[in-house]
Amino acid sequence: MTFEQLIKNALQTRELALAPFSNFRVGAVLVTKDDQLYRGCNIETSSFGLTICAERVAIFKAISEGAREFKSIFIASDADRFTPPCGACRQVLWELAGNIEVFMIDCFGNYQKSMMQELLPFGFDKSYLIT
Ligand code: THU
Repeated sequence: MTFEQLIKNALQTRELALAPFSNFRVGAVLVTKDDQLYRGCNIETSSFGLTICAERVAIFKAISEGAREFKSIFIASDADRFTPPCGACRQVLWELAGNIEVFMIDCFGNYQKSMMQELLPFGFDKSYLIT
């Protein structure tokens, strides 16, 4: 899939969002090192705190299917500006996917790229655990 197709794919994945409470739809496409795609959208329930973001749906789907090595994630939202991943998603992506490229896409298809480490400097990970 080309770069432009990945941008479009993230925008299309956003259409699958189940976001009746916020009406803010997000789609994420996670790309493995061997170019497998795992897609996620945000899913909200009436117990609002149980909402899960598109990025975590994508990475949990990938991990649960056996994928372990990632290179990028494409994140598209309904906003007319680039939507950065929330703090919880940054932590999970950093731990499970590492220093991947993060493409943040607005509703028009424009994008901005950051590395995961720029979005989560001095991030906590398993190397800090005392065993
Ligand atoms: N959301 C995401 O899916 N990803 C983000 O990076 C930011 C927020 C979702 C969660 C919730 O369903 C809605 O957007 C509003 O916060």
